[in-house]
Amino acid sequence: TTETEHTLRTPIVAVLGHVDHGKTSLLDRIRGSAVTAGESGAITQHIGATAVPLDVISNIAGELVDPTDFDLPGLLFIDTPGHHSFSTLRSRGGALADIAILVVDVNDGFQPQTLEAIDILKRTQTPFIVAANKIDTIAGWNPNENMPVQQTMDAQSERVVSRVNEKLYELIGELSDNGFSADMYWRVQNFQANIGVVPVSAETGEGIPDLLTVMMGLSQRYMKAEMEIDATGPGVGTVLEVKDTQGFGTTLDAIIYDGTIRADDTIVVGGLQGPIVTDVRALLRPRPLEEIRTEKQFEQVDAVAAADGVKIAAPDLDDAIAGAPIRVLRDRDRAEVIAEVEEELSEIEVTTQEEGVVVKADTLGSLEAISSTLEEEEIPIMRAEVGAVAPRDVRVAETANEPTHRAILAFSVEVLDDARRLAEQEGVTLFEDDVIYQLVEGYDDHVTEIEE
Ligand code: GTP
Ligand code: MG
Repeated sequence: TTETEHTLRTPIVAVLGHVDHGKTSLLDRIRGSAVTAGESGAITQHIGATAVPLDVISNIAGELVDPTDFDLPGLLFIDTPGHHSFSTLRSRGGALADIAILVVDVNDGFQPQTLEAIDILKRTQTPFIVAANKIDTIAGWNPNENMPVQQTMDAQSERVVSRVNEKLYELIGELSDNGFSADMYWRVQNFQANIGVVPVSAETGEGIPDLLTVMMGLSQRYMKAEMEIDATGPGVGTVLEVKDTQGFGTTLDAIIYDGTIRADDTIVVGGLQGPIVTDVRALLRPRPLEEIRTEKQFEQVDAVAAADGVKIAAPDLDDAIAGAPIRVLRDRDRAEVIAEVEEELSEIEVTTQEEGVVVKADTLGSLEAISSTLEEEEIPIMRAEVGAVAPRDVRVAETANEPTHRAILAFSVEVLDDARRLAEQEGVTLFEDDVIYQLVEGYDDHVTEIEE
């Protein structure tokens, strides 16, 4: 219709990597604020989204980014705590993120969550670059605050440069072992065929201009078509987190990736018992350059357009699931929208069988990721659900015929006390972990033990 307004939305950038490799610090550096300082134990507690407008990016990137070369409005970064699977970042048909930054500590190299991130990036075919972080910790490094990386490398001694290169080529080797051809970003011509490695320091800001330049360039060059949306249409989004917000009860931290959500909209959200239809009570938003998780006082807004993070207050959200779809009803057919959400929920592919293990996970995305890992290993699943491990899960697990299947794999969820007691009593083994492949590895070891 003539009312639709096609605009380019902000590309969504997921920042991923192993615990402590510097995801939050990198975003901090970009934001120029100090979220890390306020975090207990420097651990990111919740997923947050940070919108960085183009003019801020071009200020940081200096001569590397000319804002007139770009017509994308900026970048929306999503920080993911290392202990939390970022597989929550899903949307219809795959990954919520258009692009990703895989943060790797140059000294530490590839670690369990780096590999987990790579697996999911591969599976969802999300283009990514590698930020080789903490270059300032290389022995003898002479910091040059906020300098583009090639410039600061030129200013280092030969010995330091060779140490840095050695580390960087180790990373490139590890990427290659994982099936990705990679090189220093300035040597990459085709970012679709090759992974660019950007050496950076969140501590000194070195290489941050390069990182932002590469991200803007990538978005502009390869994703513009997908960024074209009808910004005024009924909003579509993904639940990142379901949590209590003082004065508002259960709320949703969400990313809206298409259209607009308004404070007077009715929404349909994926829930444990199927779609939830509810009226928005308030839209709460962090100001630009701030994060949902750091805001104490939320600003109420009338509408939020894609792509952006928003906290949604509405009744009946207790059953909503992280990773589930959100759709605005507005003038659309109610039954049709409910059917869409239902369909999207059922698309979450977990093939269950009559015999197998029980899987419990914190989000739909992590459930999906674990199930696909188990499937690859030909481990059958009897029940797969989001939520805490309850006695009824133990009751299901104990019906398995194979002793190796009398097991519950719990990913980032609580195990209720009575469930734990019952499991012990009934000979059901519990596996708990926050890293998918460690969870599965723990189970594999157990199977080997039984079979021996
Ligand atoms: P999680 O959210 O727990 O997964 O960690 P993270 O990846 O967000 O790491 P975070 O940014 O919290 O950084 C972890 C520690 O590394 C902090 O003590 C940072 O100060 C430090 N750090 C991060 N980046 C750099 C860097 O470039 N150089 C140096 N020297 N230290 C860094
Ligand atoms: Mg963090």
